[in-house]
Amino acid sequence: MSHEIDDHLSPATQVVALGRQDRMPGAGVNAPLEFSSTYIADGPVNYARGGNPTWTAFEEALGALEGGEALVFASGMAAVAAALSLVPHGGAVVVPGHAYNGTTALLDDLASRGAVDVRRVDPTDEASVRAAVDGAAMLWIESPTNPMLEVADLDVLVGAARQAGAVTVCDNTFATPLVQRPLEHGVDVVLHSVTKYLSGHSDVILGALVTPPSAAGREVAARLVTHRLLHGAIAGPMETWLALRGLRTLHLRVERATANARQLAARLDGHPGVERVRYPGFGAIVSIEVRGGADSAERVCAATRLWTHATSLGGVESQVERRRRHPAEPGSVPEGLLRLSVGIEDVEDLWRDLDRALRSLGPGA
Ligand SMILES: Cc1ncc(COP(=O)(O)O)c(C=O)c1O
Repeated sequence: MSHEIDDHLSPATQVVALGRQDRMPGAGVNAPLEFSSTYIADGPVNYARGGNPTWTAFEEALGALEGGEALVFASGMAAVAAALSLVPHGGAVVVPGHAYNGTTALLDDLASRGAVDVRRVDPTDEASVRAAVDGAAMLWIESPTNPMLEVADLDVLVGAARQAGAVTVCDNTFATPLVQRPLEHGVDVVLHSVTKYLSGHSDVILGALVTPPSAAGREVAARLVTHRLLHGAIAGPMETWLALRGLRTLHLRVERATANARQLAARLDGHPGVERVRYPGFGAIVSIEVRGGADSAERVCAATRLWTHATSLGGVESQVERRRRHPAEPGSVPEGLLRLSVGIEDVEDLWRDLDRALRSLGPGA
């Protein structure tokens, strides 16, 4: 792979240049898509549950983007499970009350069997995080949170966790390494649902963890590699290859989607059909509270023609969903909250469709 490229490339170049084959006459310009379950003996990897050249290419590119060493997993949730395997039996995990509901559901499941003790916090309330992390094994950070878009001060939270001796994990799915590189703030493990922005086309389920290139980071990485090998939640080569292909345009996609999101957030603020707009000022997720609650919000989803009513985010196409339709979503998420994953379409087309859907509620909505 392309190890000899200089280290000081900007992210816009990294996403294009890294994870390619060595420049040998006749070699393909793209990473190989390797479908082999096993390898001829005495090489660096002997069985494909332990490694695959397509993984290596993707891991090289993502590792450079985050400033660490990446490991690819079968899904974001497989990466969540691997990260949680770092918690000793019965250890306490401090987690944002509004973290992704799959993460909190897994924590609740583990807690119901005594495997962990879960402490929920508001990540913007530093004092409560400090109190909760005392004696904890892990501080789970998700910033911005899904779907309330709360933003944590990484330096403060990591400092508190360090003092308490807790491992920090930061789910960087929403921000992407283009906006935030948690390892630079001292985070121990960065997590991605690669399904979202990194792959970017809603055609892949994949996850990743990234650890710092320090001795301590390598120890953590070794434990995660063992977890991946033994628990077997490994990424398919095809998915990994598609994710790498998607990653090539991450910079352009995020730039365009963010510009669209900024404009839409500004226009939605004060819209007669909208009670409140949540937008952290970066990224391409905007959450709005629709006037009239759950019923009105569902009607907006049904009325859009260009926006896709679906439960994911980070794709090139714009998606909308009322999050409380999922029973796992906490009661503190407003019933009428719609999560908008803003895509890369023409912003005027997106606005016309959304504005029309919101106005279809009528003046009293
Ligand atoms: C913030 C966040 N983390 C993790 C996940 C889980 O990822 P996956 O669906 O790839 O398993 C999701 C999925 O929506 C998510 O939004």
